[in-house]
Amino acid sequence: MRRKLVAGNWKMHGNRASNAALLEALKASRALDAVDVALCAPYPYLGQLQDSLAGSGIAWGAQNLSQHAQGAYTGEVAGSMLADFGCRYVIVGHSERRALYGDTDAVVAEKFIAAQKAGLTPILCLGETLAEREANLTLEVVSRQIGAVLHVTGMAALARAVIAYEPVWAIGTGRTASSAQAQEVHGELRKQLADHDKRIAAEVRILYGGSVKRDNAAELFSMADVDGGLIGGASLVAEDFLAIVAAAAR
Ligand code: 13P
Repeated sequence: MRRKLVAGNWKMHGNRASNAALLEALKASRALDAVDVALCAPYPYLGQLQDSLAGSGIAWGAQNLSQHAQGAYTGEVAGSMLADFGCRYVIVGHSERRALYGDTDAVVAEKFIAAQKAGLTPILCLGETLAEREANLTLEVVSRQIGAVLHVTGMAALARAVIAYEPVWAIGTGRTASSAQAQEVHGELRKQLADHDKRIAAEVRILYGGSVKRDNAAELFSMADVDGGLIGGASLVAEDFLAIVAAAAR
């Protein structure tokens, strides 16, 4: 039985004061016991999350990392630095990084490896654009994206990773994939992984992300292969995020 994971992706939002209020509200909740919960914050706030969340049962992480371990890479942040701040997770291959910052399939694979080398659990994001969905290329795109990682890491690495299916057209648009659309892709991904290793495929968590809200979370999380969510906008509002966590706990 896969334990559900609800991870917040704050993206480039927040400040010390708003973070503190949000963290206090989240820590006060009981809903957190039945599922795994994580928050992925901008780099400067990882120390704040570490101070606030240590011992709380809520894990924290970053939204990106360098593919390099150290060196002359001005402005970049290494996985070991994230580990130094107690991060458990790091998002790799988010569609915003792929679209805006040149994170190709190959770079994403390097970042995935760098994350695991630093002892972090990568949350590997996959997803098609609207044009790709309309051209019936959804499964082809997500297969290519996961294949690019598997090709260099091998299947065993997936036992220490989380996958997040995030259709690009559903991110920040209010347009959620239907539960059937999500299940179709999640089921197909798990089937493909099972061709490599049945046990690992059965155990790896596949999250759904893209306009998950308090009123659609329960339906999405009820699907057989949807093991929780990667939550953007709704993770910035304590009551909304907690309602989504509660939906995962049902
Ligand atoms: P929204 O929940 O705001 O659509 O964002 C989803 C996302 O990109 C999480 O990584």
